[in-house]
Amino acid sequence: MLPEMMLKVTFTVDGDEYCVDAWPDLSALRTIRDVARHPRPRRGCEMGLCGSCESKVDGIETRLCQMTSASLDGVMIETPPPRRSMFAV
Ligand code: FES
Repeated sequence: MLPEMMLKVTFTVDGDEYCVDAWPDLSALRTIRDVARHPRPRRGCEMGLCGSCESKVDGIETRLCQMTSASLDGVMIETPPPRRSMFAV
């Protein structure tokens, strides 16, 4: 039984399907990374300023830190490819 405040949300990130219990007002970025434990999208300022978390949500560029977890239900998220490190060999 879920606490009253939590929602069950189902979404897809880079082809992986998730169904998790989420706090509706928590950012989508936090739910994807901290609850679903998907390693991407990237985390940055979490204030909508840096663009690190920008991903395609149903084909539309979206800053996931500015989206609520309640809006995650039924969406398909596509994260940008990982950046190449300038220190990679
Ligand atoms: S983490 Fe900086 S814009 Fe989302």
